[in-house]
Amino acid sequence: MNFTGANILSVEQFDRDSIDYIFQIADRMQPYARRQKRTTVLDGAILGNLFFEPSTRTRVSFGTAFNLLGGEVRETTGMESSALSKGESLYDTARVLSSYSDIIAMRHPKSGSVAEFAQGSRVPVINGGDGANEHPTQALLDLYTIKKELAYHGTSLNGLHICMMGDLKFGRTVHSLSRLLALYPNVRFTLISPRELAMPESVLAVLEKAGHQVTITDQVSESSDAHILYQTRIQQERFESVEEANQYRGRFRLNSDIYTKHFKPNTVIMHPLPRDSRAEANELDNDLNQNPNLAIFRQADNGVLIRMALFALTLGVAEQVENYDRTVNWFSDKPNL
Ligand code: CP
Repeated sequence: MNFTGANILSVEQFDRDSIDYIFQIADRMQPYARRQKRTTVLDGAILGNLFFEPSTRTRVSFGTAFNLLGGEVRETTGMESSALSKGESLYDTARVLSSYSDIIAMRHPKSGSVAEFAQGSRVPVINGGDGANEHPTQALLDLYTIKKELAYHGTSLNGLHICMMGDLKFGRTVHSLSRLLALYPNVRFTLISPRELAMPESVLAVLEKAGHQVTITDQVSESSDAHILYQTRIQQERFESVEEANQYRGRFRLNSDIYTKHFKPNTVIMHPLPRDSRAEANELDNDLNQNPNLAIFRQADNGVLIRMALFALTLGVAEQVENYDRTVNWFSDKPNL
């Protein structure tokens, strides 16, 4: 894949070689993310960070990643503060905002909206989540995390058993991650959800075409030998009403007792976050916070590395980052990501 100038809209763009290359560049971003060094390779460049739907991690880590490469960030948050709320089209918005930026990261509640926006953009556009459709940068950081966690336990992706649990219908992160994992051999998927919130047929078709073993169930006990447990949130914002979402809230909780009863001791616990910590949902209990297998914050940390890599690649500076670096003046003792 030629990254320079490319939009990053869907995981379907990637093959295993391009993923390996992104991960190699992400590894090289460690000293900058740990604040041991700084680089100004993107000095003068501007990121348009357009988030028309709520976000904490993706929005801030895109901005942080761009700053860490020496660039500046201009942000738009919320539909109501944008002229989209006056009826302006995505195409017009893209034509205008792309002349103010060198690259754009965007989240929008409608499936396909980021690709539509990209048609009007004169600079590369990175999808930060389009409705229930895709979240490609999350899938990359999830896969990067899975590889690192498996390596820590002395295993690899070959023969991976991943259990995905919760709202698999509207959870765009599991759609994108499943499509990426389909590229690897012998992956076993256990998909646990209420029947009404099952993984979409379009994603299942990709897994089946690639020859993977897929178990669809509403029983947690089906997943006892999983290497990875990927928990998700009920995506209330995609339901017709709060009452409808409430029917499913709390159906697949995970806490220390359930984890110990149903999963083998080293099962890695992942979640794209945010987790719904309200008592009625409590999908990932705080009593797991000290469990070393809880990888949720390592996932979020890895998001900075992956997004730095994607900026460096799409702006064509991936091989120049070290030419513009120097040590930092301030105290920094961040652990390895
Ligand atoms: N994982 C994720 O997309 O989180 P945010 O909604 O906070 O960006």
